[in-house]
Amino acid sequence: MAMGQRVGNAMILSIESSCDDSSIAITEIVTKKLIYHKKISQELAHSVYGGVVPELASRLHAEALPHILSECEPWFSQLKAIAVTNEPGLGVTLIEGVTMAKALSISLGIPILPINHLKGHIYSLFIEKEAIFPLTVLLVSGGHTQLIEVKSYTEMETVATTMDDSYGESFDKVAKMMALGYPGGPLIEKLAQSADASRFAFTVPLWQSPLIAFSYSGLKNQVRLAVEANERSAYPDIAAAFQKTATEHLLQKLKKYFKSHPPVRLAIVGGASANLYLRERMLELLRPHNAELLLSPLEYCSDNAAMIGRAAIEAYQMGHSCHYKSISVNPRCKL
Ligand code: KG4
Ligand code: ZN
Repeated sequence: MAMGQRVGNAMILSIESSCDDSSIAITEIVTKKLIYHKKISQELAHSVYGGVVPELASRLHAEALPHILSECEPWFSQLKAIAVTNEPGLGVTLIEGVTMAKALSISLGIPILPINHLKGHIYSLFIEKEAIFPLTVLLVSGGHTQLIEVKSYTEMETVATTMDDSYGESFDKVAKMMALGYPGGPLIEKLAQSADASRFAFTVPLWQSPLIAFSYSGLKNQVRLAVEANERSAYPDIAAAFQKTATEHLLQKLKKYFKSHPPVRLAIVGGASANLYLRERMLELLRPHNAELLLSPLEYCSDNAAMIGRAAIEAYQMGHSCHYKSISVNPRCKL
């Protein structure tokens, strides 16, 4: 170490490319300070297709990541490891980030930290902060709807998951039916504002089932029928009824789960955790339990490299670094 250089200056560069956001961050290991963070989102490019086109996403990462990386050179000498999302996600986009991580690892002579994207979402709660556990986490994103009990970085147990589509994905599909664009979450949430959520009555998925699990394919079909049977002017009311039912489903299952596992601290993470209606309804659900609700700042709810960098600090301190030859890409891996 150079004379006078603080230990806190040791940094990790993190890369995220699991779906349609190209992002790089630099985080100080000891202080957890976020030194640099940039994200180039591809939303506009995919919007015309109503969803992410993997090959297009891959090509756009190949353009955007080197562009962002060129701004990170001033910190190269302080880097101790390169963190990269290697699971789960789209195979053709994960490989873009992993290939860049390998090239950096070879050229800078430092190891790689493979990071699970879902752990990254959980650590989006703790950017520039100490982590607090134990924690019950509801992860709602485009790819996942999961209830997870988290005791530490290495002790995470999925206690409920979706049987088909995810919460965020169902917003994307409803937005596509209405030809609103992509991503559907913010578009549906906006359309539903000040609309009448009671004009259309959709059945809450699995409401009679004792299972603690999620399902959105049936609700999606109910919405499709309503969209097909009505004029555009009814779309705001359909969007509001859909958002209410989709969220009610999460709440009903959580309520059931809380009977055997009373909540102390619950967090909502993932892109769809930005939904303000969901946040409000969750606060109502937790009030009688006197439980705390943890949320990530809005800018870190959707995919970003800052959360990967924050998770990577834990991985680094636990010695999870690996040689560039041994990192694998696992598109389907869960937690
Ligand atoms: O976490 P994320 O950026 O990517 C994945 O890991 O999947 O989540 C993206 C998902 C998309 O499905 C998007 O429609 C949804 O999060 N989303 C929302 C909202 N903002 C984003 N869903 C509902 N309401 C929102 N406000
Ligand atoms: Zn994500």
